Amino acid sequence: MTASPQPVETFDLVIFGGTGDLALRKLLPALYHRYTDGQIPDDSRIIGIAREGLDDEGYRDNLRKVLVKDGNAGKVEDFLKLVSYRSLDARKDDGWDDFAELMGKDPNRIRVFYLSTSPDLFVDICNRLGKYGLNKGQSRVVLEKPIGHDLKSANQINDDVGRFFDESQTFRIDHYLGKETVQNLLALRFGNALFEPLWNAEHIDHVQITVAETLGVGQRAGYYDHAGALRDMVQNHILQLLCMLAMEPPSSLSPDAVRDEKLKVLRSLKPINESNAAQLTVRGQYRAGSAEGQAVPGYLDELKDHKSNTETFVAVKAEIANWRWAGVPFYLRTGKRLPDRVSEITVVFKAVPHSIFDPSAGPLQQNRLVLRLQPDEDIKLWLTIKHPGPGGLRLRHVPLDMSFAEAFGVQQPDAYERLLLDVVRGNPTLFMRRDEVEAAWRWADPILAAWADSGEAPRPYTSGTWGPSAAVALIERDGRTWNEDSE
Ligand code: BG6
Repeated sequence: MTASPQPVETFDLVIFGGTGDLALRKLLPALYHRYTDGQIPDDSRIIGIAREGLDDEGYRDNLRKVLVKDGNAGKVEDFLKLVSYRSLDARKDDGWDDFAELMGKDPNRIRVFYLSTSPDLFVDICNRLGKYGLNKGQSRVVLEKPIGHDLKSANQINDDVGRFFDESQTFRIDHYLGKETVQNLLALRFGNALFEPLWNAEHIDHVQITVAETLGVGQRAGYYDHAGALRDMVQNHILQLLCMLAMEPPSSLSPDAVRDEKLKVLRSLKPINESNAAQLTVRGQYRAGSAEGQAVPGYLDELKDHKSNTETFVAVKAEIANWRWAGVPFYLRTGKRLPDRVSEITVVFKAVPHSIFDPSAGPLQQNRLVLRLQPDEDIKLWLTIKHPGPGGLRLRHVPLDMSFAEAFGVQQPDAYERLLLDVVRGNPTLFMRRDEVEAAWRWADPILAAWADSGEAPRPYTSGTWGPSAAVALIERDGRTWNEDSE
């Protein structure tokens, strides 16, 4: 029997950047879904904050439009009773007294301040939260990525926020850690005796992590052009997936037990710098092409700046220098305007040492464990079996399949649902600790520097293809191919 979700304690959750895309498209719908599941007490409060001059009703109207699409109108109205709005400018004092008074009604309840704004505002917001006495005992602050654009700026943000909030109150969110498959990776690795003995360089040939998107940068070009795929996806999401896959078994799921192990992985990544970046990395930038059957413009056309060297695709051959993983490549790739929206981790096991089968039985393929994060979360273990029936011993490679939607008949929750309630519960296991963010930048910075120093432009690729051909060559040079069994 599965346990039903437990309600959390009553809380106040304040979203700075409350009219932004993330708040309206992800955070508030996530809270609504947890509410309809009975996890959020009716006397909790959700307060949107932004500069826009709206009142409570105006804000609820905006939210109603988003929620009614997949909600039940009655439930939406009940949920909206929890929601209010304050128009505030983080850089000015106007309105903060009123906001402090609103918060002051019950100073002992759990308070979450979610900073879904540009990082330039973090220090001003924290400053005023301090000045108006809002950081009370059970307060927590959530920082949305990007946490800086390099180690130095990340340290600056962490120092600035750290002057007002302790590390134990600081939740650096990486929404990939809230995805069901990622949590399932923990269950699979540490809830089964089967995999752990094989989970090492002796039995694993290589690992692939692909996060492919069909969308271009669209409206986010202003942010994206200063970031690029390595900062936007690899330094955080993909490295976090790599850590969950490669870490040593933690002694428990306690926040520091897990994060200590992840940190060791990040610190064991082999450096990539000007001496080897050309061999171990490929950068690309999309040109015009097609996406989901439609003609789409290239990155530079969207940007209206024909000079940008920002990468919209990156492939990296990473290695972890420790006893468990020595010699096992981790091929990482991510990009915009690729043919499919698919995120997958593929663990490829070593080939059998000797084949006893006649070549006419068909090729023997390596076992693969494919963890699909999206679009449909599932896990497949590819095995070799005999093709059923007469006709001699013919081999077939088939997946032992566990499609979550089919197995459990439930819609998978969005990653933010789990993570937001973990913040309320005060459980930071699935959040990045400061030293993890720093270690990830320590690995990423020399790659970025090597690219900048090379003066080379990213390789062009046509929208709707799997990135530059050099990314295929990166893995094929090693006698391997990117996994394409997306059935
Ligand atoms: C965000 C990146 O963190 O993750 C975006 O900034 C990216 O560029 C997004 O599109 C992908 O998230 P998901 O959950 O859709 O895979």
